Amino acid sequence: MGQYERVAELPKERIPQHVAIILDGNGRWAAAHNVGRSKGHLAGAENVETISDALIEMGVKYLTVYAFSTENWKRSEEEVSYLMMLLKQYLIKNKKDAIRRNIQIKVLGDKSGLSKELQLLIEDVEASTAHLDSFHLQFAINYGGRDELCRAMKKIAAQGMDAEEITQDTIAANLDTAGLPDPDLLIRTSGELRISNFLLWQLAYSEFYFSDKYWPDFTPQDLEEAILDYARRDRRFGGRK
Ligand code: FPP
Repeated sequence: MGQYERVAELPKERIPQHVAIILDGNGRWAAAHNVGRSKGHLAGAENVETISDALIEMGVKYLTVYAFSTENWKRSEEEVSYLMMLLKQYLIKNKKDAIRRNIQIKVLGDKSGLSKELQLLIEDVEASTAHLDSFHLQFAINYGGRDELCRAMKKIAAQGMDAEEITQDTIAANLDTAGLPDPDLLIRTSGELRISNFLLWQLAYSEFYFSDKYWPDFTPQDLEEAILDYARRDRRFGGRK
């Protein structure tokens, strides 16, 4: 028996296939510990590893994390460059590990707005893990749901399609998440109750779970509670039984 016995006892179809997380509260965690915001982001980045390991053990196949939004550029230059450095380090450090553990890594968002160095690193990590499929880890970087929809519309227009030909599948196929299943469960930490421009199209029928804990304090046990809460829900996708 693994560590997460209560999840292991659930029927397979009650375990979410795809979990998406809004990693919120790094700054407040840092303030509560009397340390700089960077320390909060560092603790947050470390927790992404802890929580993805726990998800793998629980049998979840996809994790998407909101690491940097199109709005996060408004933060101080110091904070932005620290976050970019953390993302770079994370990708470098985790590439080998991902290959060894059969994990596919993808980045969602407008990559053209990132530094050339980060773009090349992302290309390399994506290409080196594209064939792997024990687990799928997506980082949303320079990502905004409205921006993603806008870029998808531009791609569709550039294909010269007739308006009548455009279906929901056409739109889904032109989003950054093309080919990925929609999230079953969205978790947001730190007590904020909003989606902040994350996966606007893809979250249409997702279940939402909010935790008051700051992201660096969100433990695998908290995650287990979220999964058990999800498993008790009755998903009807707009229909009736
Ligand atoms: C929200 O906390 C968090 C972010 C804007 C960035 C999330 C980034 C990380 C966890 C680090 C980089 C990630 C990886 C995977 C390397 P906040 O700063 O908005 O917190 P606050 O609302 O308490 O100020």
